[in-house]
Amino acid sequence: QSAQLWGGRFASGPADGMAALSVSTHFDWQLAAYDIAGSRAHARVLHRAGLLSADELDRMLAALDVLAADVASGAFGPSPDDEDVHTALERGLLERAGRDLGGKLRAGRSRNDQIATLFRMWLRDAARRIAAGTIDVVDALLSQAKAHPGAVMPGRTHLQHAQPVLLAHHLLAHGQSLLRDVERLRDWDRRAAVSPYGSGALAGSSLGLDPAAVATDLGFDAPAENSIDGTASRDFAAEIAFCLAMLGVNLSRIAEEVIIWTTAEFGYARLDDAWATGSSIMPQKKNPDVAELARGKSGRLIGNLTGLLGTLKGMPLAYNRDLQEDKEPLFDSVAQLELLLPAMAGMLGTLTFDTDRMAELAPAGFTLATDIAEWLVRNGVPFRIAHEAAGECVRRAEAKGIGLEELSDAELAEVNPSLTPKVREVLTVEGSISSRDAYGGTAPARVAEQLDRLVGRLSPH
Ligand code: ARG
Repeated sequence: QSAQLWGGRFASGPADGMAALSVSTHFDWQLAAYDIAGSRAHARVLHRAGLLSADELDRMLAALDVLAADVASGAFGPSPDDEDVHTALERGLLERAGRDLGGKLRAGRSRNDQIATLFRMWLRDAARRIAAGTIDVVDALLSQAKAHPGAVMPGRTHLQHAQPVLLAHHLLAHGQSLLRDVERLRDWDRRAAVSPYGSGALAGSSLGLDPAAVATDLGFDAPAENSIDGTASRDFAAEIAFCLAMLGVNLSRIAEEVIIWTTAEFGYARLDDAWATGSSIMPQKKNPDVAELARGKSGRLIGNLTGLLGTLKGMPLAYNRDLQEDKEPLFDSVAQLELLLPAMAGMLGTLTFDTDRMAELAPAGFTLATDIAEWLVRNGVPFRIAHEAAGECVRRAEAKGIGLEELSDAELAEVNPSLTPKVREVLTVEGSISSRDAYGGTAPARVAEQLDRLVGRLSPH
């Protein structure tokens, strides 16, 4: 017997090519458990509306329990004739509850309001898993920051040496962006916690069903305000696709640094063997594949977002079959991140930093020049003149092939009479770093406070 949900007005079944194009069970079967949860909630509101007797409700829920168990065990699955997850599960229900009782469940609902609801449910669970995985990456950064409280490195702008900073400060900068990714997912959830169930095909239900009861039953905060919007809108999907793409881009920026840091030229860090790969021809190779896959997958996550936006653009209200294209990009973004996040946490948590190498490079490239200028400002010299003087110190040191701290007292005084030997207190990496002690700065005490606040925001309440 055909499982089709809409045969009545058709003289023939779909052509093979029609069915092949239409079928979605190979990806929407992931929603099966959510569909059954929706069916339970729907059975209860049918009962409350007087459309199922108490006995029918009991038998319906029992049949749904058997179906859920069979789906979970793999005993029941979609057949090639099933158009989508809803069709397959209705067939499964009819087989278990009988055609008369099973055939009552579809009253007052449409696949249009079902799919919009189930997809939100699936995504809300996925968002919680992704947030947890992201927090594990932040934890890896935090443990490295805690393990290296005093380690210094050259801070960069334009990838050029700029000013020395604490390694912990730099790692926590990545922690901040990932924390915002977590918070963005939490914010998204408040908008996504709206249930379209009860919107029907688009116009709402005429059967006295209570969408608010279904919404509560399925863990939503509220039912959809507008049944047309409930079935037609997918901005919730595009928004989380952005959240996931942004997370991917942030991971990619960390990854790019790991790739650079582990080159021979930088030599800042070494990858743990467990989180690196070798070469089939070059025996010496140790490659940062985790980081490269992070960089590569970020492109895919961006593509999933832009592809979905392209699908939505220009689509009239309400439901159109185009909307079936919403699921695969999101399933893919979530699946990729579920692979990537644990690997990033593993790679970052096991990096070994060569803090001596970073300390040696921290003052290189005259990164203390700004400190000379600002020291002069604190001693009453206008910044324009101080900037010139510090620049001249750089020019002289560069010509001699020495560091700024190696300029003699006489030479400093020659550059500017205010440059007394006392300037040497900021001509060390440690002096420079501890002088940047305003809120958010790289001074050790400020970095320790940042770390505490970050931990607090990771686990609110
Ligand atoms: N499989 C469809 C989707 O993913 C839901 C079914 C709605 N189909 C329909 N012909 N109204 O959006």
